[in-house]
Amino acid sequence: MTKETHTNCSFCGKNKDSVKNLIVGEYAGICNECVDFCQDLLKDETPVVEIPAQPSDKMDPMVLKKYLDQYVIGQHSAKIMLAVAIVNHYKRISKTTAEPELDKANILMLGPTGSGKTLLAKSVARYLDVPFAIADATSITEAGYVGDDVESLISRLYAASGNDIAKTQRGIVFVDEIDKISRKGESTSITRDVSGEGVQQALLKMVEGTVCRVSAAGGRKHPGGDMIEIDTKNILFIAGGAFVGLDSIVKNRVQGTSIGFRARVEASMDTDLDMTTPDDLVKFGMIPEFVGRFPNWVSLRELSKADLIRILTEVKNNYIQQYHWLFEQDGVELEFTESALDLIAERTLTNKTGARGLHSEIERTLIPHMFNLRRYSGMGIKVLKIDPSMVEKPAALDGTD
Ligand SMILES: Nc1ncnc2c1ncn2[C@@H]1O[C@H](COP(=O)(O)OP(=O)(O)OP(=O)(O)O)[C@@H](O)[C@H]1O
Ligand SMILES: [Mg+2]
Repeated sequence: MTKETHTNCSFCGKNKDSVKNLIVGEYAGICNECVDFCQDLLKDETPVVEIPAQPSDKMDPMVLKKYLDQYVIGQHSAKIMLAVAIVNHYKRISKTTAEPELDKANILMLGPTGSGKTLLAKSVARYLDVPFAIADATSITEAGYVGDDVESLISRLYAASGNDIAKTQRGIVFVDEIDKISRKGESTSITRDVSGEGVQQALLKMVEGTVCRVSAAGGRKHPGGDMIEIDTKNILFIAGGAFVGLDSIVKNRVQGTSIGFRARVEASMDTDLDMTTPDDLVKFGMIPEFVGRFPNWVSLRELSKADLIRILTEVKNNYIQQYHWLFEQDGVELEFTESALDLIAERTLTNKTGARGLHSEIERTLIPHMFNLRRYSGMGIKVLKIDPSMVEKPAALDGTD
């Protein structure tokens, strides 16, 4: 395009004499009528800030706890603490008055592997109508290193909100495997390590509240792409981790501080993650500033044998139901005796993999039957009853070729 002197509006074509004003730039002109028209257009497109739903039944921690009970077995105190924290977050973001100022209270979930941390977070997400994003701390790197930077967490939340800035700003981010970004070694003077302390440092600002820029189109940042700004002040962060070894740090502290008779008594005392102090977490390798930004602690316990049996048989879409359906497809009714369920739970317990181990125990038991399933109805087997001997010693795999 060449430079020229404009005497007409480049949009509607009207001459400068027939309009009140004509604003002329290097390559185009626009009349006051078109400016007004554009302003009206933009006004219509200004994002409507949604007023969050008024506190309803849904925002009663007891109702949320009941909802979680359908999916998560045991972990009662964890469910109560989480429900209260989530509802408080919701109240905070629904507040319409400036006073009082409310500080957000990010949540730290501690608990052994397979005890339901991720399951709890996912169940909360399903329940709430705020955007929710789950990310793995191990996938994040300090800015400047190859990998996702911390802003990718907000990017995901933005995507989960359907690219809606206002919704993103009141969402929840679950950062899983947070214990995997602990500082290596106890000494504070070691050089910064890419995967650990640096990432904790990078997360600090975001967790506390900062304005961060993410790609408007969603996905990764790319040079030249449009960016939008997201204020993380009201975004709730939940961090979860198994913190393997933390229990012995707690135990050492508890036992180490007691002397004489008390020491002997307390040496036999069961410690659990409920007794964790911020110092213990710092010893574990979390930096104090990070720990300080997570005032709500929710600790999960190792599941008991009774819990594992309930997980097998009572939760929605439990494994027994799932395999029952699979066998039904070939006309065979699958049943488990109570003592077989007991043994599956017992074996899972010794594996120390939490409820996750149930799945592999069942698979191990059922694979030989699933392999031969199509033959069973021809052989007149309509019901397959799994007893403890079949769990103890599954049928040999007979796949002669
Ligand atoms: N308390 C529970 N109630 C019902 N199911 C559970 C429970 N805990 C675990 N499970 C089952 O075990 C699987 C693994 O649980 P989950 O992913 O929540 O473990 P986690 O605590 O996050 O472990 P990790 O620290 O290894 O990530 C879930 O998909 C779920 O099927
Ligand atoms: Mg998990």
